[in-house]
This record gives sequence, C-alpha cells and structure tokens, in this order.
Amino acid sequence: MPQATSSTLQLENLSPFIGTAVHGIDLREPVSDADFAVLRDALNQRSLLLFRGQQIDEGQHVAFSRRFGTLLGHVLTQFLKQQHPEIYVLSNVTEGGKPIGNHKEGWNWHSDLSYKAEPSLGALLYAVEVPPEGGDTLFASMHAAWDALDPAMQQRIRHLKATHSYANYYGKAFADRQPLSDKQRADVPDVQHPLVRTHPETGRLSLYVGQDVVKQIDGLPADESTALLAELNAHAIDPRFCYRHRWQAGDLLIWDNRSTMHCATPYDDHKYRRVMHRTTVAGDRPF
Ligand code: SIN
Repeated sequence: MPQATSSTLQLENLSPFIGTAVHGIDLREPVSDADFAVLRDALNQRSLLLFRGQQIDEGQHVAFSRRFGTLLGHVLTQFLKQQHPEIYVLSNVTEGGKPIGNHKEGWNWHSDLSYKAEPSLGALLYAVEVPPEGGDTLFASMHAAWDALDPAMQQRIRHLKATHSYANYYGKAFADRQPLSDKQRADVPDVQHPLVRTHPETGRLSLYVGQDVVKQIDGLPADESTALLAELNAHAIDPRFCYRHRWQAGDLLIWDNRSTMHCATPYDDHKYRRVMHRTTVAGDRPF
C-alpha cells in the first residue's frame, strides 16, 4: 500500500530490504526542496528509488541528477553524449557503424566506480528503449548483506581492506576488445578500500565487495584472499537481499552506491535494442 508523505509524493516499497517506488512526481518540473528532502531521506533508508513513466529529456535528466551532487564523466569518453557529457550511454545499438553506447556494461555485480579513490555516491539510469524481455537489472542491499553475516565473520573482516581495479574488471568483462590505452590505464590506477564501509549519512555499515573489479583482499595469502572474496561475493547477492528491476521505457532509477551492488542481465541483443542513459554522482572516500 503506498504510503503518503508530503504534498503529492507517495512511497511504496519494492522488496523487504531495498527499493522504493515514488509516485506523484513529474521530473519535467523542478522538485521542491521539501520534496527533495523526502527523496534524499528515502534514498538513504531504502538505497534505490524508482520513478516510473517519466518523459524527461536529457537536460531534465541532468538537472534532476545535479540535485544529488556533482556529476562525473567516464573513462570511456566515446560513450558520453556530445550535448550532455554528463550522460553516459549504455547500449547495443550502432549508428553509422559505431556503437552509440557501451554494450555489456555492468554485466557483473559491482558498485559504480568503486575502482576510484572517491567512488560514486549514486547513479541515475533512465530507460530510453528497452527489450520486451531480458535486460533486467538486479540490485542487492549491502546493508542487509552485512547485517546477515554471522558475528565471527563480521569480526574477521571488519577492518580488512581490498584492492579495486578497473583494469582487472575491463580485462575480464571486455576480453574481446582493444585493451585499455596507457592513458586510460593511468586515469584509473588500482585503489584500496575498506571491505566494510560506513554510510556517511546514516552511519550504517555495509559490505563493500564486487565481482572482477575487486582484485584481492589485501594482507592475506592469495588463496585465502580468493576463497574469502568468493564467499563474501556469493553471500552479498543472496536473493533475500535483492530486488530485480524489470524495465519499462520512461523508468528512472537512482541507487545509492554506498549501500548497494547491482548487475545488468543479458537479453537477445541481436533481436532487441536497449538504450539507457546514466548520470553518475560524485561521492566521498569510503571509510
Ligand atoms: C550499470 O550501470 O552498471 C548498468 C546497469 C544496466 O544497464 O542495467
């Protein structure tokens, strides 16, 4: 049952631990400060907000995204929109022989830009065109994953750190492509982050892991690091902590990268087109 909040906003939870649909809002119009405070609080509590049926243009997408913070570009600059370089395109579509966006981006569990010293706070993904089947996105609550770990494991990992590596991710996800250039590699050196991070606005703890992008748990022998990482990655995406989003054109989702992981799923990319526009909000150094 949707829950009434301020003026016209209504919030409806999408799954036990993560995700809230926001009704009664038209993102073509400026959002009042009072309504924005409700959205910001809901994002902190629920980690993911869904706005369905939004007919926004690129400028409106960027303007709403900016309410959450400074927007970031991407190392793969060829997929940024020329008029709005804050928008990174994810797509299987080619025009004039050139891909209009990065295909198969995020087809593994990750938290955006975790390979940066200051990873992204969150991302706003807008569905321009979606396939009639497949191409869902899965989201997992890393608060729920941390809370469900047994106390001995919590104690074991509480102060460990891990190395996050874009080069490692790229090499695994895009093994069939041109390797990163020296400049691209230099733009994204490996970084170290805590394995358990604190949400800077709520103080809640969450597990901070990821497939492919997390290269190793630092300070452990290689085999122990690999085994622990596999165990934590498997635990993190237990279906109990997850929400599956089945996209409709006009959906805008924002998720909090400080408390979630997500994973795009395949679709028949020979038969269907998928065009998604993503903005990425700058964040702080995890602690
Ligand atoms: C991503 O931002 O990681 C991709 C999500 C998607 O395309 O569903």
